[in-house]
Amino acid sequence: MPLILEGIVTTTNADGQPNISPMGPIVEPDLRTLILRPYQTSTTFQNLKRTGVGIFHVVDNVNLLARAAIGKLDPLPALSSCQEVPGYILDDACRWYAFRVCSRCDTEPRTRLDCEVLSHGHLRDFFGLNRAKHAVVEAAILATRMAWSSRSDLETEFTRLATLVEKTGGEEECRAFDFLFNYLRQSPDTCFADS
Ligand SMILES: Cc1cc2nc3c(=O)[nH]c(=O)nc-3n(C[C@H](O)[C@H](O)[C@H](O)COP(=O)(O)O)c2cc1C
Repeated sequence: MPLILEGIVTTTNADGQPNISPMGPIVEPDLRTLILRPYQTSTTFQNLKRTGVGIFHVVDNVNLLARAAIGKLDPLPALSSCQEVPGYILDDACRWYAFRVCSRCDTEPRTRLDCEVLSHGHLRDFFGLNRAKHAVVEAAILATRMAWSSRSDLETEFTRLATLVEKTGGEEECRAFDFLFNYLRQSPDTCFADS
């Protein structure tokens, strides 16, 4: 049965620079194919439409994921050139999967890209299950969906997730979560669905 694997996709911008975005493709456990569902408005979609190739990463660095989710990766993390497809591999990923887009359905705002994995690599072991890391992943997803939620609903959810981060997280998880919570608090009311 297919499932969703949250990770990070790198694509190449028109000027050759990397674009780094969290995405949750639908995968089979063997990860030979990916079904990506980027919104048409995303840079990831525009780049994949133009180049037809990208690299999906399995990660445990939630600080990287949190910052990439809201486009605040400055400086960029360390990247290496992929030998198999034109693109960038995140040095701090656990595993990477270079893919090509085989077919595209973009009749809806959220598109569907059926992708075939061309090659893959293992860089280091996955840290393991940790509730704080998962709480940061949830918070990062919520932070990218402010336009569909009210400020008060999001603050309630963040407050619930904060308990998990405090109880089970390390420095990286606390920093990533605080970064997202501050981003939420500092966002103007017009960013939220109830504005
Ligand atoms: C764990 C996670 C999974 C995500 N999955 C998707 C997805 O499947 N499709 C999508 O359009 N956005 C997804 N997002 C939101 C995008 O990462 C976010 O909108 C990002 O800003 C898009 O960046 P881009 O415009 O550079 O592609 C996800 C975010 C997180 C944190």
